[in-house]
Amino acid sequence: MDRTTAVEKAFTKAIDRYDDHADLQREVADKLYRKFSPFPNGDWLEIGCGTGFLTQKLLNAIPQKLFANDLSQKMLEALPNDPRLVRVPGNAETMELGNNYSLIASSFAIQWFENPEKGLPHLADKLKKGGKMVVSLPLAPSFKEWEMFVLERKIPFTLNPLIAPEDLLKSLEAKGYRTHLSLEYYPLFFSSPWAFLSWFKGVGANVSLRKERMPISFLRELTNNKGPFNTGITVGFLEVEYV
Ligand SMILES: C[S@@+](CC[C@H](N)C(=O)[O-])C[C@H]1O[C@@H](n2cnc3c(N)ncnc32)[C@H](O)[C@@H]1O
Repeated sequence: MDRTTAVEKAFTKAIDRYDDHADLQREVADKLYRKFSPFPNGDWLEIGCGTGFLTQKLLNAIPQKLFANDLSQKMLEALPNDPRLVRVPGNAETMELGNNYSLIASSFAIQWFENPEKGLPHLADKLKKGGKMVVSLPLAPSFKEWEMFVLERKIPFTLNPLIAPEDLLKSLEAKGYRTHLSLEYYPLFFSSPWAFLSWFKGVGANVSLRKERMPISFLRELTNNKGPFNTGITVGFLEVEYV
């Protein structure tokens, strides 16, 4: 199975449990909206809309039209019916998405791109002059405590690599876009290490794009580890302006 199909399948599978597990994603979508709104009038494009945490907020802000993209057709079907909403299924990294958008928005999706450093300027190129792109995404360093937990037990670290903040901006700035990035650290508290892994599964993020896998024996052992497990995630809030 190729990478895109694996990501699409994981999210489609998670659709019924996503909203119950995705408090962090809901909070981040709210914050992204509050931080960067109001948005310029015109046609808007959302990338990786999922079940629609950000989509709903964007619709409330009265866009002319909102083009909502996601890899998963099932995710798009979960969006509310609205005459201003156009569903756009497919891989935003490679598909034709049109241009002349006054806003491009995305919350917690671009980290799934094969090449976010290339994908972001590719999206920004679809803005019209005076438009802006607003993005939230997890960045490195994140989940350091999990990395230590597995490495101490000589188990491979299988979480997907995340981009470093400085690498996110290079290609956008090289193209002349004005950028502003702020970072926020969200601590995460779990009743056990197993509960941490279950959370990943609940939000569809359990598809490992690395080759190595955690051994089944380790996962079995983990179900007996009852201690609390705390970690955290760095979230980047990025604004890109085409001035
Ligand atoms: C973690 S969910 C976030 C969904 C929503 N934006 C939110 O904040 O809850 C990531 C979403 O991005 C979508 N996605 C991942 N890679 C994508 C790609 N290359 N093109 C379009 N959508 C993608 C997934 O299908 C999934 O619905």
